[in-house]
Amino acid sequence: MTPHGQMLLEVRDLVVSYPARGSAGKPLAAVRSVSLNIENGSIFGLVGESGSGKSSLAHAIIQLTPYRSGQVLFRGQDLASLKKPQLGAARRQMQFVFQDSLAALSPRRSIEQTLLEPLNHFRVGAPASRAKKAAAALETVELDADMLHRYPQELSGGQRQRVALARALVTEPELIIADEPLSSLDAPVQARIVDLMLKLRAELGIAFLFVSHDLSTVRRLADKVGVMYLGKIVESGKTESLFQQPAHPYTKSLLAAVPVADPAHPAPSVLTGEPPSPLTPPAGCVFHMRCPEKMERCPSIEPIEVAVGKQYGAPENERELKTAGHRVRCHLWDDTK
Ligand SMILES: Nc1ncnc2c1ncn2[C@@H]1O[C@H](COP(=O)(O)OP(=O)(O)O)[C@@H](O)[C@H]1O
Ligand code: SF4
Ligand SMILES: [Mg+2]
Repeated sequence: MTPHGQMLLEVRDLVVSYPARGSAGKPLAAVRSVSLNIENGSIFGLVGESGSGKSSLAHAIIQLTPYRSGQVLFRGQDLASLKKPQLGAARRQMQFVFQDSLAALSPRRSIEQTLLEPLNHFRVGAPASRAKKAAAALETVELDADMLHRYPQELSGGQRQRVALARALVTEPELIIADEPLSSLDAPVQARIVDLMLKLRAELGIAFLFVSHDLSTVRRLADKVGVMYLGKIVESGKTESLFQQPAHPYTKSLLAAVPVADPAHPAPSVLTGEPPSPLTPPAGCVFHMRCPEKMERCPSIEPIEVAVGKQYGAPENERELKTAGHRVRCHLWDDTK
C-alpha cells in the first residue's frame, strides 16, 4: 500500500457524453471536463443535484462508461492505456458500491457465493483460502457468520448495504467508489454505515469516492468535497473550508437547504427551479439561470476556476492555510486569482 498522503486517483479533464438518440438528436454531455484527486486513505465527497453527472463520472472512473477525452490515473497509471491483465489488477484495487443493493446483489446467490465471486474472478489467494476471506469480510462489516448462507432478499436494507460493502472490500481494494450507497436507508442505519466506512478508512486505510446528495453525511465523512452542477465541478476544497466558507452561490443554496443551518452565517435564498438540460447547456456560467447573485457578464462569459482565500493576504495567514486547495468557478471570485 502506498504511504498516506500519496496520490491514489487523479481524474484529469474528463468528458463523458452519451450518443445522440435518433438522427436529429444531439449528444448529451453529462461530464464536462472534470478534474479531481483522491489521496491514499482519504475520503472525497461528490455532491450535487440529481442529473448533475455524478454517476456518469463515477462509472467512467471505473471504466464502466467510456469517456470521450481526459484521463483517469490510478496510482499514476492511465487506466485507458492498460492492457487487460493490468486493468484487471487495477480494477481489483478499485471497487464499486451501487445505490440499490437489492438490484446489485443477485437474488440467486447466497451471501457467501456473492462474496466468493470477486475472489474467484480476481483469483485472490489459493481457492481453499477464499471461504475464510469471505467470512472475514462479513465480520469486518459487523454481520454474523450465519448470514453467509442467507440470500439478499432475506436481509434488511442496512444489512444488504453492509454485504455490498463487504463484497467491495473482500478483494482488499485501496479505493471504494460508492454511488449514493445510503440513499434508500433510514437515518439511524445511515449513521451506522457512515461509522463503518470511517472505521474501514481508519483501520484498513481504504480511500473512498463517496457520491451523495446528502450534505450532512458528506460533512461527517469526507476530507474533501466537490460540488457538481450540470457536468462541472463548480467548487471544491477541504470539507471544513467549503462548509464554513462556501464560495459558490450554488453551494450556498445547497447548504441553505440543509435543515440544521449554521447560525454563524446568514441563510442565502433557497434554490428554486430545475437545472437546465445537459442537452442544451447554457452559455457563460452553468448556474446563471438560477443564481441569486448573477451579474451582467455571467450569461455570456464562462468563469474559470480560481483559488478561494488568495484575497486574505500572505500565505502564512491562518485563514489562507485553512482554505488551501479551495477552488471555485464564479465571477464573484475572478478578481482574486
Ligand atoms: N446511459 C445514459 N444514456 C443517456 N443519457 C444518460 C445516461 N446516463 C445518464 N444520462 C444523463 O446524463 C445526465 C447525468 O446523469 P447522471 O450521471 O446519472 O447524474 P447524477 O448521478 O448526478 O444524477 C442526466 O441528464 C442523465 O439523464
Ligand atoms: S458566475 Fe455569476 S451566475 Fe455564475 S455563480 Fe457566479 S455570480 Fe452566479
Ligand atoms: Mg446518480
